[in-house]
Amino acid sequence: MCGIVGYVGDKKAQDFLISGLKRLEYRGYDSAGIVTVSEKGKATLIRAKGKIAELEKKLAKNKRDDNVGIGHTRWATHGEPSEKNAHPHQAGSIYLVHNGIIENYKELKAELKEHDFKSETDTEVLAALINSFYKDGKHPLVNAVVQALKLVKGTYGIAVVSVLEPSELVVARSGSPLVIGVGHNETLVASDASALVGHTKRAIYLNDGEVALLTKNSIEIKTLNAEPVSAKVEEIETNLAAIQKGGYDHFLLKEIMEQPDSLRETLRGRVNAENGTVRLGGPGLSEAELRKIKHLIIVGCGTAYHAGLLAGYYIEKFTPEITIETVIASEYRYRDAYIPKDSVALIVSQSGETADTLACLREIKKQGIPTIGIVNAIGSTIAREVDGGTYVHVGPEISVASTKAFTSQVIAMVMFGLTIAQAKGVKSSILAPYIKEIAGLPEEIRKVLDGSVETVKKIAKDYAKYDHAIYLGRDAAYPAAMEGALKLKEVSYTDANAYAFGELKHGPLALVDDRFFEVALVPDGVLLEKSVSNVQEVLARGGHMIVVTNSDEFDLPVENVVKITTSMKLFAPLLMNLVMQLLAYYITVDKGYNVDQPRNLAKSVTVE
Ligand code: F6R
Repeated sequence: MCGIVGYVGDKKAQDFLISGLKRLEYRGYDSAGIVTVSEKGKATLIRAKGKIAELEKKLAKNKRDDNVGIGHTRWATHGEPSEKNAHPHQAGSIYLVHNGIIENYKELKAELKEHDFKSETDTEVLAALINSFYKDGKHPLVNAVVQALKLVKGTYGIAVVSVLEPSELVVARSGSPLVIGVGHNETLVASDASALVGHTKRAIYLNDGEVALLTKNSIEIKTLNAEPVSAKVEEIETNLAAIQKGGYDHFLLKEIMEQPDSLRETLRGRVNAENGTVRLGGPGLSEAELRKIKHLIIVGCGTAYHAGLLAGYYIEKFTPEITIETVIASEYRYRDAYIPKDSVALIVSQSGETADTLACLREIKKQGIPTIGIVNAIGSTIAREVDGGTYVHVGPEISVASTKAFTSQVIAMVMFGLTIAQAKGVKSSILAPYIKEIAGLPEEIRKVLDGSVETVKKIAKDYAKYDHAIYLGRDAAYPAAMEGALKLKEVSYTDANAYAFGELKHGPLALVDDRFFEVALVPDGVLLEKSVSNVQEVLARGGHMIVVTNSDEFDLPVENVVKITTSMKLFAPLLMNLVMQLLAYYITVDKGYNVDQPRNLAKSVTVE
């Protein structure tokens, strides 16, 4: 979603602002802008609708050596994507960039009669409000920001500069992330640490309700109630290679292909295949607490929700006396669901910033239920607010469509399930096959990717012409099919839905005709025959089917079979998901769409 960058230091602010905004492009945006302020207090504001490239064209005619500035990529909420709605917004001597939503902007706007509003945004209202307290420099900028924020309802991450105080930046957050980069004779700001990589490794993550006054050599953080905060400087772990394409045409393909390594990072130090145990330090629950768990609630959105569904299928197979409910965060936050006291909630989020998931976390915590994060982004809001957690450690996921995070989220949750089962005294003969397969998964993933990439690339060409697709599976292959359908629809704009095989005859079978193609997951195992007869039902109605299977027995004359050769029995559906990721990728490439930044979508959905 929206991105923020800011700079105060010895170097040219425009350089960092543009490179930082480019790093944040992956989050999705529809317009961008920067403002820099010279030592003498002259502002240069440049804004453009569309991509950063448009902004750069304008920048070419407005190059400045100014050493302080702020920048923004906007994802429209209030008002259409346009230059006038793009940030920074000006009011008097100040300029403001803002992520989040000011919910009471209409009431505030009605009081701000002296300001001549030029945009339709809630952000300009906040700029005008700050300026009304600033009174053209009669009060320190930081005080004006605090006074304004005390009146605001909603969420924000903001950065403010003033032409009257051209050697400082003021930043603040409530519900929308901000990271301060601590440099040498420079201080940087970004809404996502990836913008800081290559500039500094030292970062301070601002907390909700904090405001910071930044100069090139100082960082003063306070709460809105003026209590000083002693900031913890943390290390940024991401390196440059992790946020570059590394020879691939797109981040999506790179992230699909790097799953053997990213899963290895998830497993590192946690799985001991030799003695058949799993050890997770992060959740912080004692053996006695683990033993008491009777109910797991798994909360997420989109792909994270699917990961929770799939993990739930596994965990209930080996953990006795436990019920599992996987819920969509945007629904759950408004449900009046009863949560039994012996529950634990798993909060699943790649970005750690998803607004609905965060809201659920806060609701669940209020009820005194322990919360465990399954998060990728280190230092993100969810990671910091959960009671304990297991980072999935897959490194930055730049492509909007989530792939490597999904695989690792599933396994991280299964490992958590295994720690519960171990504590509950489940026989190691039951758990050992899971642990053995998990330990071997990175290598199996490599084999499946290497073995199927060319086949999938070839067959994708025949399916790019379709506007509709049906994904099918049973048992754990059903949530895997749901994830496959989501991947296809979000990147290739093909209308794709998943159904449990057993549901076919209850309605979806009526759809099968030449407008559709079908992707069926047919794992080997006790339900093989049932899945095969479902495939037959579709075939008999003229379905255009791709079957992904690891069974040697599957011999129906479907259009295409992607056979995956694997020794894995339990996690075959997870391996089949790799094929579906590749299929979505190659169909999208054939259609010629923007693979990494699908229209209308943002990488991290920080507004409701
Ligand atoms: C799909 C996708 C989204 C995210 C969802 C949750 O490919 O990326 O469905 O999974 O927006 O995001 P996180 O995991 O950041 O909470």
